Amino acid sequence: MKPMPAGALHPVELQLDGVARRGHAQTRTLLSDFLRDELGATGTHVGCEHGVCGACTVRIDGIAQRACLTLAVQVEGRRVDTVHGLADRDGTLSQLQEAFRRHHALQCGFCTAGILNSCVDWLARVQSPSEQQVREMLSGHLCRCTGYAPIVAAVLDVAGRRSTSASTADADFPSPPRRQP
Ligand code: FES
Ligand code: FES
Repeated sequence: MKPMPAGALHPVELQLDGVARRGHAQTRTLLSDFLRDELGATGTHVGCEHGVCGACTVRIDGIAQRACLTLAVQVEGRRVDTVHGLADRDGTLSQLQEAFRRHHALQCGFCTAGILNSCVDWLARVQSPSEQQVREMLSGHLCRCTGYAPIVAAVLDVAGRRSTSASTADADFPSPPRRQP
């Protein structure tokens, strides 16, 4: 096999928040850097850059994953959803975003984009979570500001409301595709 020159750029095409996008990345380029620097999707934040803080979490084909542990070339042909796609195009916030606002579940907001993406994936799979389950889910995220209690309250609020209004659940929490065994 012919070796590729160091730094060679590869075209990467994906659906970003439902819109077809195309950019170029080296094989070693992280998805977090590709989203921010190549595609301008700066709502995806970068904290630790080694999988600990959760700030960079996006959904790839519906599954919450660390963008700093994913190579940009790995999302070729796939769907990537970020915080930019959570609200409607007219700016109407999603149920989850509204709940975060209601409960003051963010302060500086640095962690929030990643937490929201984890919550969307998780709430699609866990219908009636307990507080303990919500806390375990959030253990994959570091937040320096809130003390977590308002975030827990916001997630439980959304879960409680949708249990009494099943019709509004599907749009904000689409079921991710099954993981391949
Ligand atoms: Fe990806 Fe911290 S920046 S987990
Ligand atoms: Fe500041 Fe979470 S709101 S880090």
